[in-house]
Amino acid sequence: MGSQLFSESEKNNQHQMNCNNGNVGPEAKLELDGKTFTLPVVVGTEGERAISIASLRETTGYITLDEGYASTGSCKSSISYIDGENGILRYRGIPIEELAEKSTFIETAYLIIYGHLPTRRELRRFSDLLTENQNLHEDMKYHFEGFPSTAHPMAILSAMINASSCFYAGLNGPRNVERFDVHAARLISQVRTIAAFSYRKSRGLPIIYPKKAYKYTANFLHMMFSDPYEDYDLKPEVVRALDLLFLLHADHEQNCSTATVRMVASTQANLFACASAGVCALWGPLHGGANQAVVEMLDEIYRSGDDGTKFIAAVKDKKSGRRLMGFGHRVYRNYDPRAKIIKRACDDVLAKLNISDPLLDIAKRLEEVALNDSYFIERKLYPNVDFYSGIIMRAIGLPVEMFPVIFAIGRMPGWIANFKEVMDDPKSRIYRPRQLYVGPSLQHYVPIDKRSDSPAA
Ligand code: CMC
Repeated sequence: MGSQLFSESEKNNQHQMNCNNGNVGPEAKLELDGKTFTLPVVVGTEGERAISIASLRETTGYITLDEGYASTGSCKSSISYIDGENGILRYRGIPIEELAEKSTFIETAYLIIYGHLPTRRELRRFSDLLTENQNLHEDMKYHFEGFPSTAHPMAILSAMINASSCFYAGLNGPRNVERFDVHAARLISQVRTIAAFSYRKSRGLPIIYPKKAYKYTANFLHMMFSDPYEDYDLKPEVVRALDLLFLLHADHEQNCSTATVRMVASTQANLFACASAGVCALWGPLHGGANQAVVEMLDEIYRSGDDGTKFIAAVKDKKSGRRLMGFGHRVYRNYDPRAKIIKRACDDVLAKLNISDPLLDIAKRLEEVALNDSYFIERKLYPNVDFYSGIIMRAIGLPVEMFPVIFAIGRMPGWIANFKEVMDDPKSRIYRPRQLYVGPSLQHYVPIDKRSDSPAA
């Protein structure tokens, strides 16, 4: 999908986006049923190798089986890169540490979606588009009325993103090349407005509209915490800390929610429908809901008077069914680089706001114990992005149920960029994995009066 508004610079930067479409390397040989099959090996920009099995079933009759997709590459992508062994994360080739120090969420969002750092003109145009599209359609207000005050904001977020798509003609239907820039900006901008409105609704508070004068993250805090009669005091360190959290969550290759977005996008569903599906996938406690689960876990440990020792013992006892939330990652077998940045930011923000949070002490103690414990060492379990992020969000005053929403707001550019990659790929096909059927063999329908209750029923 070529972008209309950013086409000139995009063209100049095409080489950056298409820097490697996967070089073909040596072939892999597979012996099956006495025959040898050759499979192409594709090599990525950083030397990662993949055996292409696209024609495997056609040529051999076999499929691959990889439950949980631990060894399956579902696509080629040039958006983010992770080296899990060495704790490296880059967006479009730029190390996360550099972006965290020098960039902003919105500049990084542009980088992720369009593949290059924006010029001043491009950034201004992008910011203007975000501002122009930040207001929800006024009729959307009525949709908020339908949710009970106990509704989880992730449920509201996914429903409202989908509902919002109904207000924009041209979003549905065939791939929408011309309006992509506007739809992308609208989604990034409105997800923040929806999130703030759903929080206000859940607290029975009047809705606060966005202000044109405020930048993205400041505006979110304004909509969350201002009153109609008094504006929220925007402390620069709070704005910067939240902006940093958004930036650090902006993309993370084929995680569960991004893979979901691509899956839905492959059906040619509209951008908002894809993002709404992404929110649902993100909600679970093993994914974006982990930041909420971490703080709830730390709070529980604190209230029980444990210093973390008993909890770690329970985690190691598989029968307890407990996990050290905020620890472990499918790809990182080392410290998640985002966790390192957030841990430092945590100390910094709490010091600047003059807050002392006992949960931070417990988190640090858990980390120290875990990193020296053979259970965690052998399994290469380290703190992930969610381990410390909740402490910052607490310090900012965000309620715990909003934590996954913050993750979703941050992840939006990544989802949009992945949607765009699917749309831009002329060879894109509907995602349709195979399965290995392990159910009953052929059997026949039994009329209801001939069926007997099983003893357990
Ligand atoms: N606490 C205790 N044990 C763990 C943990 C943990 N947090 N994570 C993994 N393990 C153990 C697991 O029990 C298994 O042990 P064994 O080999 O004895 O059966 C081994 O480590 C491998 O775990 P796995 O579940 O096969 O690993 P996975 O790659 O399927 O799961 C994970 C990755 C992130 C879901 C998992 O580590 C986990 O549940 N972590 C806690 C939840 C969490 O923090 N999620 C946020 C992930 S980062 C942000 C995001 O993606 O949203």
